[in-house]
Amino acid sequence: MKHFLNPLDFSVEELDEVLDLADEIRANPKRFAKVCEGKKLATLFYEPSTRTRLSFEAAMMNLGGNVLGFSSADSSSAAKGESVSDTIRMVSCYADICAMRHPKEGAPLVASMKSSIPVINAGDGGHQHPTQTLTDLYTIRCLKGKFSGMTIGLCGDLKFGRTVHSLIEALIRYEDIKFVLISPEELRVPSYIRDEVLKQNNQQFEEVESLEEALPKLDILYMTRVQRERFFNEDDYLRMKDSYILDKEKMKLAKSDMIVLHPLPRVNEISVEVDDDERACYFKQVEFSVYARMALIMILLGVDKPC
Ligand code: NCD
Repeated sequence: MKHFLNPLDFSVEELDEVLDLADEIRANPKRFAKVCEGKKLATLFYEPSTRTRLSFEAAMMNLGGNVLGFSSADSSSAAKGESVSDTIRMVSCYADICAMRHPKEGAPLVASMKSSIPVINAGDGGHQHPTQTLTDLYTIRCLKGKFSGMTIGLCGDLKFGRTVHSLIEALIRYEDIKFVLISPEELRVPSYIRDEVLKQNNQQFEEVESLEEALPKLDILYMTRVQRERFFNEDDYLRMKDSYILDKEKMKLAKSDMIVLHPLPRVNEISVEVDDDERACYFKQVEFSVYARMALIMILLGVDKPC
């Protein structure tokens, strides 16, 4: 049995297999409408979510399966003090696969150790968010056709932004990628990402503060929100929240084929006027997320493709 807790749980070849299957599903979704009939996905969300939870639920429904779960810790037995380990043992009796989001880093890993069903990490604290990475990779592959040779700007809260950590870990396995890490000094990537992931793998990267200076060289700009819920005090958040605002003027500095991605939700970091720019691809990313999650569910459940 395989879990998906970190993007590195899948080799590049295995990731390719998921993305190839997502392509097949996108080309003919009806063909896959019954492959998970009789199967259940449990969504165990101890932290708020709109896109991720609904996209998982839509994915399972599109495959003909059913969903059950909870959308906040308050509405689950966690409020009574139940441990993640006990919850997953119980859920293993009800469902065939589960997606867990938790404010504590490592909670899905702890769950996976006691689980008899595949556990998907749907975001653990400021740590990792591998299924957003699957979505990001799928979006990049669909829109750019490849990963290699890209200069990718990651901008905003690189310290607490778990989607950034997972995306960097996944992308360093491809050839000739350059990262431009754009953030205020206080929101730079955690040292484990800088030292153990980027430096140890001789990855090309630079850490800069100016979005304007970085923009002209980027093929992909991945914007992120400043993660208010992970700050120790509100004043620091207020000081940092509007560090970057991508607007029409700044978009003039970018290449004509650069794509703008964002895991969403957006707060102020992308002005709504940018939405009409054909390079703004963050809503396409949402659409692609369902195909990527459908493919992941099928592969983790070992469900065969329809003939
Ligand atoms: C992201 C997350 O939860 O980390 N959202 C998402 O899953 N699409 C990004 C964020 O909350 O800023």
